[in-house]
Amino acid sequence: MTARKIDGKAIAASIHEEVRLGAARLREERGIVPGLATVLVGDDPASHSYVKVKRRACEEDGIRSFHHPLPEDTSRETLLRLIRDLGENPEVHGILVQLPLPSHLSEAEVIEAIPPRKDVDGFHPANLGRLGLKGGEALFAPCTPAGVLELLGRIGVGIAGSRAVVLGRSKIVGLPAALLLLRNDATVTLCHSRTKDLPAVTREADILVAAIGRPGAVTADMVKPGAVVIDVGVNRVPDSSRKRGYRLVGDCDFEGVSSVAGALTPVPGGVGPMTIAMLMKNTLAAASRG
Ligand code: GUN
Repeated sequence: MTARKIDGKAIAASIHEEVRLGAARLREERGIVPGLATVLVGDDPASHSYVKVKRRACEEDGIRSFHHPLPEDTSRETLLRLIRDLGENPEVHGILVQLPLPSHLSEAEVIEAIPPRKDVDGFHPANLGRLGLKGGEALFAPCTPAGVLELLGRIGVGIAGSRAVVLGRSKIVGLPAALLLLRNDATVTLCHSRTKDLPAVTREADILVAAIGRPGAVTADMVKPGAVVIDVGVNRVPDSSRKRGYRLVGDCDFEGVSSVAGALTPVPGGVGPMTIAMLMKNTLAAASRG
């Protein structure tokens, strides 16, 4: 079997188009221009390039972007004051603080300073916690796992009643992905570094979500024939044939897993573009709520 390659780029493009239309309508009917504030502390090159992509997407989708680059040695007080000001600014509907933060700043404290109604990343405990509470609606779901669910929905994968296995329990991807799958009535197993006999667990999965950040961690023998495999990993591996000296690969051995799975997301071009699209969708939703 050769797995169907899931085209996240194309699916993300249709979401961007929907956001563009929605933003134009919001501007015409209610005079509201959606606004996203990005806060970037320090000089991490990967964080800079992620934020650049997010700001470009804002421009293309009709969302105003307010960028706040801050030096590495920014104090806790300065950062919290900026977040409070952005929280009170009516032109800012979403606030995104790019992670990781420098080690002298507490991520938990900074995230909790963002008003939940502007938490378009979905990382505030009020939003993340509500994902796990039936009947308690989160205002926003974190963008990467929300993108995973959106991908599954748009390619017609039935989640209810399926066996879903998530690898990795990070607050950005693994944990919220498991909660979202559970909300959608999958039977969910969340695996982590202490899980015993991982291949036996993953071979049960109709839907396998890999989010551990280790190239080649998921091999063909770990996949049930016909399973849908969503590879969230973004790993840089050295590649002297590339100008920048590395290439991006996911957590799956792509060739091997392709020979067993029914469908598989590539890296790049799978989940990555969906994350940005969901951020735009969350920002539009924040602006629409007013
Ligand atoms: N760092 C890595 N992924 C993310 C993300 O989705 N949002 C933020 N704010 N920081 C990140």
